[in-house]
Amino acid sequence: MQDRIDWLVAELNRHNRLYHELSAPEIPDREYDLLFRELEQLEASHPELVREDSPTRRVGGAPVDSLPPFTHRVPMLSLGNAFSEADLREFDTRIRRALGEDAPAQIAYMVEPKLDGLAMELVYQEGDLVAAGTRGDGQTGEEVTHTVRTLRSVPRRLREEGRPPAYLSVRGEVLFDLPGFEAMNRRRVERGDKPFENPRNAAAGTIRQLDPGPASRRPLFFVAHSAGEGIGTERASTQGALLAELASLGLPINPLNRRCLGIEAVIAAIAELGALRHTLDYEIDGAVVKVDELALQDALGFLTRSPRWATAYKYPPDQVATELRNVIFSVGRTGAVTPVAELEGVRVGGVTVRNATLHNEHQMSREMRLFLAPGQPALLDEQGLERRTGLRRGDRVVLQRAGDVIPQVLGVVDRPGREAAPPFAYPALCPVCGDPLAREENPREAQKVTVRCRNRLGCRAQLEAALKHFASRRAMDIEGLGEKLIEQLVQHKRVGGPADLYGLDLSTLSGLERMGEKSAQNLLAAIEESKGRSLERAIFALGIPQVGEATARDLARHFGGLEALLDADEAALMAVDGVGPEVARSLREFSQDEGSRAQVAALRAAGVLFPAIQRSAAPQSLIGKTFVLTGTLPGMSRDEAKALILAAGGKVSGSVSAKTDYVVAGEEAGSKLLRANELGVPVLDLSGLLNMLGTSEPGETR
Ligand code: IVH
Repeated sequence: MQDRIDWLVAELNRHNRLYHELSAPEIPDREYDLLFRELEQLEASHPELVREDSPTRRVGGAPVDSLPPFTHRVPMLSLGNAFSEADLREFDTRIRRALGEDAPAQIAYMVEPKLDGLAMELVYQEGDLVAAGTRGDGQTGEEVTHTVRTLRSVPRRLREEGRPPAYLSVRGEVLFDLPGFEAMNRRRVERGDKPFENPRNAAAGTIRQLDPGPASRRPLFFVAHSAGEGIGTERASTQGALLAELASLGLPINPLNRRCLGIEAVIAAIAELGALRHTLDYEIDGAVVKVDELALQDALGFLTRSPRWATAYKYPPDQVATELRNVIFSVGRTGAVTPVAELEGVRVGGVTVRNATLHNEHQMSREMRLFLAPGQPALLDEQGLERRTGLRRGDRVVLQRAGDVIPQVLGVVDRPGREAAPPFAYPALCPVCGDPLAREENPREAQKVTVRCRNRLGCRAQLEAALKHFASRRAMDIEGLGEKLIEQLVQHKRVGGPADLYGLDLSTLSGLERMGEKSAQNLLAAIEESKGRSLERAIFALGIPQVGEATARDLARHFGGLEALLDADEAALMAVDGVGPEVARSLREFSQDEGSRAQVAALRAAGVLFPAIQRSAAPQSLIGKTFVLTGTLPGMSRDEAKALILAAGGKVSGSVSAKTDYVVAGEEAGSKLLRANELGVPVLDLSGLLNMLGTSEPGETR
């Protein structure tokens, strides 16, 4: 999933650049839109995976589309990561190894706070500030000179005493003052505005606007940490001296930057900084460690996207305790009932958390209480957390939030007498429809129990979710049929299942809130149009548990029609590549369920066509062929290669077996290549693959 998101983000950003900057688009707008939609969809269902550089991010509603592009003459790179002392020592070892005989006995490093703000480049010509740009994808960001020049910490003119170079690009971060951030959010809440999620978003939302007003009023400040161009080894011989040069030019630098001799001193400095971390008026999320000598930096050079001479140490995720106010149970699309903790709001890892999911196997007892059954001996783990008894109202629970990951409840802080109160337990009846809940054990993992409401479309929560899924862009793509509308239709009992959508008429629709006659007509047209959606989309739209888009595509290709699929027994289903016993069982359950069959029949009767698979425009030369990719392919990421194979109708698997048709091997291919040779699976290089695709250039297949 992350791979696909990474690929989409990189690809969309690349197309953005081609389009906006080079005026040389490679793909039609429609294709761009499809990729963009796919990314939006993935991000909506996996908010924890949203990348900072995602093209879907429109921070604070800022009209980023209208900001002009800003090209970095020297790309703004990212940094490798270190998460432990061992990682830091390894970083030091790598550097010594790379320097070989030139390595000094102890390497001198700069240890600097890793400032958690909006990355910024300032450009000075003949001492005057002429431009400011965000990092963007590292090559091209957005020009934000008009907002950045309102910050008092950004000098409009460099100090003469510092002998400004003719051209200087300075890199740093724009930070939001923390007390100011809290105060601003309080005022926003009082006014009924949405509070900003965290200081970094607030900084970005303020800087990436056309209106410079907010930037001039809000407590933002700039801190410099490096130079892109202008001050090199001819002016400073170390990173420390470079920072001093920047300071002498009037640019703010961080007072906590420290020079350390040897990696052990670096480790000690990082620990000290960690202890200070929460006393600062700005957010830091780690420490950046840089080889101090610029000559050694030059000798070490760069990897693809990051320098070999620096790394970013990330502090472990914040943990905080807060009060558990309540546990509510939410019903998902497939009827699974999951507990959600309602918490006294608390800041952790840069955001205020009020809800957390409790759904994971450690937290579920066989008695259907949250956490393990009471009465067992208390067992404190390494962090002194009590994990074994159920959750009670008023408990102090410990939360952790790592980066962009949804908060997790780690455990309960024990206190005398807490076990006197009854623990929260799963309800016996569905909290939405009141049907008795079923308990499904996972045959393979006894700890994993799913509590399910089996009332399906008879349960409002499941009905709404099913309709939302059915109408969604990747399924039947019914434009204009949004969440609010679905809720109204369900509430007024106009729709009891997807098929009923096709019986809606103008007068019913225009009677709904916020629905004019024109939009009602458009919606009816969109519903009508959806009748022709391809078989694979329609299968996906049915919302059969375990059947995602990829499986729906495989099923559509294999069976070619809906009836053949519904008549298939488990053995026939398992004959489809990529369908295992669990998916087969779920499909069978669906096809034998009277209600589900009635829904399908009703869709047919309403005119939904389930047309046999439509071949896409790309030649489907690889249908039925399974590929495994391994090693580094020259000039193409594995994800890109995978996309090409999928587009041509092939499949990509993660491991080599007798069913593998081809292994595509790049440089440094390892065990998969050996296995291919053992099994006698044909091995291709990238050009072999491109030949099969009938193209020599990856771009040409589009
Ligand atoms: S130096 C070659 N120093 O972290 C890249 N970066 O993950 C060198 N950052 O894009 C950047 N504090 O936006 C450097 N003291 C610091 C930093 C810092 C924060 C950011 C910066 C960079 C990102 C890399």
